[in-house]
Amino acid sequence: MEYEVVSVLVLAMLVWMGWIMGMERRQHGQLPPGPRCWPVVGNIFQLGRSPHESFTKLAHKHGPIMTIWLGSMCTVVISSSQVAREMFKRHDVVLAGRKIYEAMRGDHGSEGSLVTSQYNSHWRMLKRLCTTEFFVTSRLDAMRGVRAKCIHRMLHLIEQAGESGTRAVDVGRFFFLMDFNLIGNLIFSKDLLDSEMERGDKFYYHALKVMEYAGKPNVADFLPILKWFDPQGIRRKTQFHVNQAFDIAGSFIKERMENGHGGSKKSNDYLDVLLAYRGDGITEPYTFSSRTINVIIFEMFTAGTDTTTSTIEWAMTELLHNPRTLKKVQMELRNKIGRDRNMEETDIENLPYLQAVIKETLRLHPPLPLMVPHMAMESCNMLGYNIPKESQILVNVWAIGRDCTVWDAPLLFWPERFLEPNPLVDYKGRHFEFIPFGSGRRMCPAMPLASRVLPLALGSLLHSFDWVLPDGLKPEEMDMTEGLGITLRKAIPLKVIPVPYRGATIENA
Ligand code: HEM
Repeated sequence: MEYEVVSVLVLAMLVWMGWIMGMERRQHGQLPPGPRCWPVVGNIFQLGRSPHESFTKLAHKHGPIMTIWLGSMCTVVISSSQVAREMFKRHDVVLAGRKIYEAMRGDHGSEGSLVTSQYNSHWRMLKRLCTTEFFVTSRLDAMRGVRAKCIHRMLHLIEQAGESGTRAVDVGRFFFLMDFNLIGNLIFSKDLLDSEMERGDKFYYHALKVMEYAGKPNVADFLPILKWFDPQGIRRKTQFHVNQAFDIAGSFIKERMENGHGGSKKSNDYLDVLLAYRGDGITEPYTFSSRTINVIIFEMFTAGTDTTTSTIEWAMTELLHNPRTLKKVQMELRNKIGRDRNMEETDIENLPYLQAVIKETLRLHPPLPLMVPHMAMESCNMLGYNIPKESQILVNVWAIGRDCTVWDAPLLFWPERFLEPNPLVDYKGRHFEFIPFGSGRRMCPAMPLASRVLPLALGSLLHSFDWVLPDGLKPEEMDMTEGLGITLRKAIPLKVIPVPYRGATIENA
């Protein structure tokens, strides 16, 4: 009997919610077209395991600007370069808000977070910090040695693990560890993953856990009534690991302050920059509280590691899958650099084919296929459709990069397309057919850093080693499946044998 009463109540609640949501949908006026949806759940069951692919298929039917209901969340999906141009050229400010998912929602709101901040004065202050301090050319130039050292050490570790060209290594893992250490060095001037740095290992563990939970689909994001219950525990678990990581970062900051830096002595690392801005953030609004500093540091790790790792792993995968392209890029590197020295960052400008390989990888495998969700801060009218206030905006850069009306043979890995006929197509947010870093105000602030690290790391891997598939695997037999977590990684990590090319053993940096 009790069971029946509960069932009736739940059913009544669902019908009521369905009715309310139906009302809501009707009130929104002329929304962009989209598939029919179910009460309460909307189109959730049409998303499948790869939402970017499902959205691409749906866009073929419903058009490049489309409404999808994720539970009660009105979502507008943009799938063509023309509509993306319209969004970023004419509605950039009003669509520059952020849709905040439960895993991203910290105990303290978006304090200190560039990624989850709404478009307001707090965001502008953080963005200015990125453009004038962290990713400005002068500082990037000054930190060139740090990048060279971290990449050189990665080559040394790969050579050791490959046992003189006899064992396959997980390239993505080596790059991830290098990148984590690189960001650690940019911020703290420390090797966090040093064998003696137990705290670094723990910080790494908690950062990985946060990325794991943030990449899981969460029903509470789509059915607001469930937010209070956090049914999958995603919010609770993410927050636990965030707090653990903050404690560790806090201990590094304390050490730096006790050692007398405290922002007074200018050094080149990001922590000194942040400490120079230290205050309570309230009485002097343009200063940062300790928590803000912690959040900024943590975000550098989470936003910066998986994205670049995904790109390097896919670049290596595509090259091994296309041996002629691999040979061509290696010829360019070896002809221009020779055998006797390491590749350096200043070589990049003389390596157009290597740069084209990076672009082609980002076209086919953008690490954030739907970018980071935007939100309409006010209602607006785009291309004759109403975009309601607080609706989520997803830009399907994966679909845009594979659009056959824009790209010849879009599924082919063919870096030459970026050399001829138009070598000027770049990822700086001006060419809307190719926006892996986004465009407009919310565009990735770290693009200048990534555009140095990616070609230097890939070029160094290809210059120092020949790469052989293990167990007689043929290029055409390679697994090319995508797996979606926080970024679009390979479903099965790439394992490949590094055969030293340059003769002399690579010394530890
Ligand atoms: C292959 C490398 C990378 C790619 C493709 C990439 C791509 C993106 C994209 C698509 C966005 C969202 C843009 C939007 O919402 O309109 C973004 C935002 C962001 N990225 Fe990157 N990113 C990369 C590397 C990095 C690195 C290395 C860092 C930091 C060290 C970083 C930090 C950030 C931050 C803080 C944001 C949030 C900006 C905001 O909300 O205003 N990214 N990135």
